[in-house]
Amino acid sequence: MDPTPIRILGIAGSLRRASFNRGLIRAAIELAPPAIVVSAFDLHEIPMFDADVEATGDPAPVVALKRAIGEVDALLIATPEYNHCIPGVLKNAIDWASRPPRSSVLGGKPVAVMGASPGRGGTARAQAQLRDGLTYTGSLVLPLPELLVPLASTKFDVAGDLIDPDTRVEVRDVLVALAAWARRLGQDERLAS
Ligand SMILES: Cc1cc2nc3c(=O)[nH]c(=O)nc-3n(C[C@H](O)[C@H](O)[C@H](O)COP(=O)(O)O)c2cc1C
Repeated sequence: MDPTPIRILGIAGSLRRASFNRGLIRAAIELAPPAIVVSAFDLHEIPMFDADVEATGDPAPVVALKRAIGEVDALLIATPEYNHCIPGVLKNAIDWASRPPRSSVLGGKPVAVMGASPGRGGTARAQAQLRDGLTYTGSLVLPLPELLVPLASTKFDVAGDLIDPDTRVEVRDVLVALAAWARRLGQDERLAS
């Protein structure tokens, strides 16, 4: 019998239309094998975190983000690198999603990290920082494979679609490993059964 499909939510830490990292998430949607279903959440509508606003109730886009994360078995984050850090857009979304602390939708959530940049570093520093931050949210970050995409201008077309055959295989490999990670952790009774 076919295993229960693994649901993965892709989040890119960029708002740019032709973003390489949004392209990585689109590639994941396109390349997902049959037992894996990938959807994407767009961060355009997420407001800046403000604890005073939070105290009066989460804004609708934040409610939608938390619901989307809560409904899936795993997260796939594609991060750009800004000044050797993760971009504010992504950090802000994680900050909202990390609330309330110790009982947030990120707690116990399997997560894989990837990233693309036009430089030679391929977002190595941003990914290390992201992995570190996700530890504090209680997320369970997939150790390997890592997916760093350097020299991105040579691997995506002008629309931001991933055209490099080797990187497309690597994206699929991350999806397969993340699905196995989610099944192995079995934190969702639906998957454990
Ligand atoms: C404010 C800013 C800082 C950046 N810093 C870095 C950096 O530290 N390392 C890097 O590899 N690229 C850096 N870049 C270039 C980004 O990698 C590049 O703009 C990339 O296309 C962003 O990802 P996206 O295509 O998904 O939007 C920076 C870009 C901006 C706008």
